[in-house]
Parts: sequence; structure tokens; C-alpha cells
Amino acid sequence: MKKSINFVSVVGARPQFVKLAPICQAFADVNQPGGLDIRHSIIHTGQHYDDSMSTVFFDELEIPRPDINLEVGSGGHGAQTAGMLAKLEAQFQCDRPDVVVVYGDTNSTLAACLAATKLHIPVAHIEAGLRSFNRAMPEEINRVATDHCSDRLYAPTPAGMTNLQNENLQDRTVFSGDVMRDTVIRNLAIAHQRGQKSAAHGINGDYALLTLHRPSNTEPAVLFDLLSALDRIARDTGPILFPVHPRISAIVRDYKANLSASVRLIEPLPYLEMLSTVEGARVVLTDSGGLQKEAAFLKTPCITLREETEWTETVEIGVNQITGTDTSVIAVAIEKAIKTDFSANTLKELERCFGDGKAADFIVADMVEHFLI
Ligand code: UD1
Repeated sequence: MKKSINFVSVVGARPQFVKLAPICQAFADVNQPGGLDIRHSIIHTGQHYDDSMSTVFFDELEIPRPDINLEVGSGGHGAQTAGMLAKLEAQFQCDRPDVVVVYGDTNSTLAACLAATKLHIPVAHIEAGLRSFNRAMPEEINRVATDHCSDRLYAPTPAGMTNLQNENLQDRTVFSGDVMRDTVIRNLAIAHQRGQKSAAHGINGDYALLTLHRPSNTEPAVLFDLLSALDRIARDTGPILFPVHPRISAIVRDYKANLSASVRLIEPLPYLEMLSTVEGARVVLTDSGGLQKEAAFLKTPCITLREETEWTETVEIGVNQITGTDTSVIAVAIEKAIKTDFSANTLKELERCFGDGKAADFIVADMVEHFLI
């Protein structure tokens, strides 16, 4: 049996930092069976580099500083993924980790998985098995390729398990629950203790929270139609807070003069402030994957501005509606959403599908046992 085992987590984009945080904590807490030396280091690809998209998450979530930052930065999918692939391959050749841990579905996930697999380094994929069945999404390609190349697949939900079974990957798959739920539960308590204010502090009455970043929704024509329709809705139903992702900040700034004061443009929010802002919102409107679940865990109804979701359980449980960008459908969905009942049964179902907030402990224990031979 090995005397030491070196895990390296590769992350690069904002949602991955949120998934990494409880895994770091679980590595810090893990038993070292029989004097075994279990090490965990972090490589940041540099996909997200703004402080508001990166540093602030490491600080607030108390994630150790990355051991290495590859500073790959932005670019087209080909150039960005290729840049990471080349740098990760060189890094893995130098460090020879025993296991590479990848998260979610970004270009950083795919690059790390490919680089490791080609060097015959085993890969564990956290948040495996999610499918939108929409191949136009770059994330869908990243997920499918990563799942098929990885050695151990941690499915966060029953739907993830089923998708992996349908692709004949059941032998490498385990149900783990959702690490983002771990992060919400732990940090909501911290936000409450600290009296963390929401970004809506100072706004009178109810508000909705909006986020948009998918390429299909951020083409100027689609984005402007959506914003002007949401502006009309907001004048009747109350203000919409809109933290703007850096990818669209320039075009949103240009369009700002066409919007009333009911749509409030703000900077991207740090994690704890985001939790308080979601918790206080009447409804969340989003095209993000992670926010659909975070809203559910914080008992806020969600409207997903896409044609499909990977988080099908949130829809089945009745806390998320899929509307696409048809604004008449969105208006009806808002009316329905604000009546959502987060009953004891709803909360129980969320726990059954997404776990009890201890997914990271399970994953780390399982990885140590699985990769130790
Ligand atoms: C990426 C992920 C997406 C994830 C999202 C979370 C892929 C294919 N997409 O999308 O799955 O949901 O992160 O935010 O990996 N930019 C900055 N500062 C930054 C980072 C980005 O200004 O710190 C701008 C740049 O103009 C960049 C653009 O945002 O070109 C897009 O960034 P990129 O990481 O390529 O994709 P995201 O849209 O953030």
C-alpha cells in the first residue's frame, strides 16, 4: 500500500471555487489512516482572474491560496482550452500527482481531465453526470468528454446517476450529493452570524435578483429584448437587482440609458453577500446552473431563463420553472413563483436529491479509499 497520496484539484472559474471550498475543508479534516500522508494542492488555471470573480471567493470561503496559478486568462474556447492543456501537462509531468480532481463543466475541467488522462494519471470528477442534452452549450461538451475520460464519477443528484448509467458509466459512478449544498449550508450560518447585509439593503420592499451570462442570452439583440421586457415587468412588480458578469459589462453599460431605475445594475457579488441577497429575494431569474440550486436551498423560487436545465429535480420538486426568454411566459412564471411553498416535504425532497450537506466529506473519504491501492 502507498505511504502517501497526492491529490491536486484544478479549478479556474467562479463556480469551481464554490465547489472546491468544502473539499479543502474535508481534506483538512480527513483521518490519515495508518500514518498515511494525504496531501492536497490546488492549481488555478487563471480562467477567471478579476478579484471579484476569483480572489474574493478564496478569501471569503477560506480556501488556501492556489499552489500554482497558470494565468491562462480569457480567449476563444480553442485557444483558452489549449493554453490550459499545454501548461497543465507540463505541470503534471513535473509534479506527478497521484490523482487529479476536477469540478463541474468549464474549459478548466476539460483541460485538466485531458491533460491528466493522457499522462495516465487517474481523474476524479466532482459534479459528474449532469446533462442538458443541448450540444450547443460548450459546458455540455465539456461534461460528456470529462465523464467519459475520468476514473471516478461523483454524481450530485439521482438524475446525474441515471444519465451516467444510460451512458454505461455506472461502474465508475457513486452518488455523493451536491458539494454546493455543503457550501451554502456552512456559509449561510456564517452570513447570519456576521449579520451579512444583502445587496438590496436600502431598497424598499420586495425585489427580484437577475443573473445572465450564457452566450445564447447575452447576444446583444436577445439581451436587450430581455432587459427591456424585465424592466417593464419590474415597474409593476418591484425592482430587479442585476449583478453584471464581466463578459457583458460593456454592452450592458451601453444599454443602461434605455432602462428605468427599476433595473439596478451592480458589480458581481462576493459569495456571502450573494447568499444574503438570494435569501432575501422574492424570486431569482437566472441562466446560471449553480444559482438554480442555491436559490432552492435558500428557499427562494427560481425562474430559469433557458430552454432546459441539468438540475431537473428542482423543477420536479416545484421550486424552479424553465421559461426560456419568452417574456410573456416569464411574467406568468413570476406570478406563480411568488406563491411557491417551501413546505417541510419540499425541503425533505431537496435533501433526498442533493444530500445532507456532507457531500465533500463523503467524496474525500471515498477518493482516499478508492485510489489508495
Ligand atoms: C465560464 C464557464 C461557465 C461558468 C462561468 C461562471 C466555460 C466554457 N464557461 O463562463 O460554465 O458558468 O464561467 O462565470 O468554461 N472575464 C473577465 N474577467 C474574468 C473572467 C472573465 O472580464 O475574471 C470576461 C472576459 O471578457 C472573458 C469573458 O468574461 O472573455 C468570458 O469568460 P470565460 O471564462 O471564457 O467564460 P464565462 O462566460 O465566465
